[in-house]
Amino acid sequence: MIRIVSALALAGTVAAFSAAMSWAQTPAEVAKAREDIMEHLWSNYYRDISQVARGNSTDLAGAATKASGAIDALKKFATLFPPGSGREAVPTTRAKPEIWTQRAEFDKATQTLIAETAALGDAAKGGNVEAVKAQWPKVAEACGACHGGPKKSGGKFRFEE
Ligand code: HEC
Repeated sequence: MIRIVSALALAGTVAAFSAAMSWAQTPAEVAKAREDIMEHLWSNYYRDISQVARGNSTDLAGAATKASGAIDALKKFATLFPPGSGREAVPTTRAKPEIWTQRAEFDKATQTLIAETAALGDAAKGGNVEAVKAQWPKVAEACGACHGGPKKSGGKFRFEE
């Protein structure tokens, strides 16, 4: 039941994407789309945010924009795991079967990363660099719910390369 409720809650936030994505693509295309998002999360969004969080940049407005970009990408990412798009159909995917057997926990991990990123974005919008710095470790920790972080690492929901 909890699983269903949480799936519905998520579906509510991403309904537009779900409708467009779920079976409009083959399993290989869907896996490629989610890999592309993950592959570029750091370079497209979090790298610039990390520069502000580490005090190497003062571009708070830029960090706020990158945070919303990351959130949009993550909302889309959440829709790219239709059943039957694991290794049984796409041998190269690093998505583990646990994604489908423990779906509520997986979806919660995505939502946590979205929430922590949103909190960072709000701090940046408010011009509060100290709050951005304090929020950054929580964002990094949220990546760790699914995998170790480094590119080749594995983890609860991702096969090691
Ligand atoms: C909800 C779970 C989840 C969270 C949270 C998450 N990832 Fe991922 N990540 C995955 C999965 C699953 C894959 C493998 C996707 C596939 O192969 O289909 C992956 C793959 C990757 C990859 C390798 C790309 C590839 O080619 O497979 C990188 C790099 C990455 N993630 C970075 C990050 C960073 C940085 C964060 C935090 C900002 C993050 N991830 C948060 C689940 C997650």
